[in-house]
Amino acid sequence: MLDHWRRVEPQRIASLALCALCLLAWPAANALASHSAPSSAQPVSPQTLLHPQRTSVGDLALGGDLAGVPRGTTLFLRYDDLLRLPQTTYTIDDDPNFHGHTVISGIPLAQLAHLFGQPDSSDLIVALCYDKYRSNYPSDYIRDHQPLLVLRIDGKLRDRWPQSEYGGPMGPYLISHPTFTPSFTILSHKDEMQIPFGVIEIDFRSQSRVFGAIRPPGKWPGNSPIWQGYIIARQDCFRCHNAGLEGGQMARRDWKILAAWATTDPALFAAYIHAPKSVMPSAKMPAHADYDAASLHALTLYFQAMFPSGEKIR
Ligand code: HEC
Repeated sequence: MLDHWRRVEPQRIASLALCALCLLAWPAANALASHSAPSSAQPVSPQTLLHPQRTSVGDLALGGDLAGVPRGTTLFLRYDDLLRLPQTTYTIDDDPNFHGHTVISGIPLAQLAHLFGQPDSSDLIVALCYDKYRSNYPSDYIRDHQPLLVLRIDGKLRDRWPQSEYGGPMGPYLISHPTFTPSFTILSHKDEMQIPFGVIEIDFRSQSRVFGAIRPPGKWPGNSPIWQGYIIARQDCFRCHNAGLEGGQMARRDWKILAAWATTDPALFAAYIHAPKSVMPSAKMPAHADYDAASLHALTLYFQAMFPSGEKIR
């Protein structure tokens, strides 16, 4: 699982080059920023910290279902203001974005949802990154793993953060956890740490809307390959591959394209997932060398079920 993330990272760095605005703007702002020490003494009313417009490239955007505003409104929080909210601290040593033993502090995603989300609607938090990668945090993941929006690393403010293991900036925000224990295994896929760096926006969404975009049509028992393939794809592929407006867009290959591959050439589809470079030497997609034949088969059946005429082909 950790290895998997390490394989993801060079791909993410490579695609940074495409995001000229972010690439130039964020590290430059990072270098120039002078962060005043936060005054944590005064209790603050969180709603008063929200801005209707971005005030700086390092602001955190909040979107989705926010309290008190129409759905889809985006509001902005300043880094210095986030530091004024109550902070939670963990000491960890299992997050590959850091070098060994690290003290992280910041605001639990659940707390952000509580402060700014609509009280009864959001059961999914989505983190959007500057390279169009997305991490999804369904409520059971949040309950089991308590993901944290990191604001300080080893006590240091953002302008003094180390670079990521692969040499890129980790800011403007990243997400980590207290020590991570996978809470499910499906075939050879283990519950994966969702630890994006370069997070620019947090959206409070609903699973029925976001995951609804990739739910296989029909009813499937939990132990059927199609459903198993769906759960794997939802946690893994959906970070980089989109279905319309939902899901990450880093791969620039929509779910429909994957469904067409799975349907027209299942062997090549499985080979691509297992070892992308075996199919296309220049492939940047991380390999899934640990996925066994049953996992690849489940993914293939699931994506076939997402092909519009999948019924006939099966
Ligand atoms: C970390 C991001 C990432 C993840 C996670 C990811 N992919 Fe990809 N995928 C890519 C990128 C980038 C490409 C574009 C081609 C390349 O460079 O490999 C791609 C291309 C593909 C292709 C070839 C399609 C084409 O037209 O070129 C298939 C098939 C595919 N992915 C399937 C999957 C499946 C299935 C999963 C989940 C098990 C998955 N991918 C997970 C990034 C990712």
